[in-house]
Amino acid sequence: MQVYLDNTATSWPKPKTVVESISEYLNDYGASPGRSGHAMALKAARIVFEARELLAQLFNAETSEKVIFSSNATNAINTAFKGILKKGDHVIISHMEHNSTIRPLRYLESLGIIELSIIPCDKNGKIDMDLLKSCFRPNTRIVSTIHGSNIIGTVMPIAEIGALCKSRGVIYLVDAAQTAGFLPIDVQAQNIDILSFTGHKKLYGPSGTGGLVIGKHIEIDSLIHGGSGSKSESETHPDFYPDKLEAGTPNTVGITGLKAGVEFILNKGQENLVKHSQEITRYFFDGLSQIEELTVHGPGKEKNVLPVISVTSSVFPPDKFAGMLDSEFGIMTRAGLMCSPLGHKTLGTFPQGTLRFSPGYFNTKEEIDYTVEAIKKILIKN
Ligand code: ALA
Repeated sequence: MQVYLDNTATSWPKPKTVVESISEYLNDYGASPGRSGHAMALKAARIVFEARELLAQLFNAETSEKVIFSSNATNAINTAFKGILKKGDHVIISHMEHNSTIRPLRYLESLGIIELSIIPCDKNGKIDMDLLKSCFRPNTRIVSTIHGSNIIGTVMPIAEIGALCKSRGVIYLVDAAQTAGFLPIDVQAQNIDILSFTGHKKLYGPSGTGGLVIGKHIEIDSLIHGGSGSKSESETHPDFYPDKLEAGTPNTVGITGLKAGVEFILNKGQENLVKHSQEITRYFFDGLSQIEELTVHGPGKEKNVLPVISVTSSVFPPDKFAGMLDSEFGIMTRAGLMCSPLGHKTLGTFPQGTLRFSPGYFNTKEEIDYTVEAIKKILIKN
């Protein structure tokens, strides 16, 4: 048996329609969108346009022109930070952030460009809102938080933080890598000025896709300049969106698959996909609770909204445990720090990290039963 429980890293399998759409693009009309004027290029451009429109609809963006495609969430977040922040700016983040947020900011800090405040969270990843409020300074330019933790699934109160940022005139960036496609996100109602997303997790698209949803009032400087298929007579890069932030031939293969992923969600009903993943996760929690040798981290069965479970064991370190599940039982998980060192410091699981199970829509209860039995066999045998 093969059981894939690493959907927080990337979702697998992809819906059949995603695979078919990619193959259809490559086989039937694999031209470059927005460049040439022939039939295949126009069809490719229409698909990219429709993907942008669908994402704008999903997140209630003010305009699809400011839905920007990038190669992944890290690239998108870098674009936002480096295209906005100027010398003397102050940024606030939380202790649950991923390295995609921490590292570009630490880099800008090391150059003396920004000041950085990192707000502690409790062991369940809950942010201290009073501390957040007290950290605003006159030069605070951006507050950036993850939406859902990739370690323990804690969900940040983004609407509350959004309202706070709005009242202070500060830009709020939400890293929705784990939640886009899973939890409802309304950038206007939740006062999210910039949303970064990845396409290959809960939007069911292929890797190499992601992007930003940018509020109408937000300006981001382009970091990359070059071909855009527009204003070719000009030697400078266009300053209108989306071209401003999308230099070079786009990843049409990926965007085509991403579009099919969003359509899969809309056709199935986001709430149905979520319901199944949450049921499987709760069922998994019940199975794990029978195993004394395991410590389950995070908010726990009743409060876990995202399908992410992190455990540690008194018997094996996480990486060895994950290796045994894989080699002896064909169960695929992720172990270690998951690019979130500050989160693990918060949990008290630094530097070994945890063993993470992340079920998805395509997992079954039989697979969970098999996994729980495999864990028992490994721990009891030793
Ligand atoms: N951030 C992704 C993970 O948690 C890659 O595995």
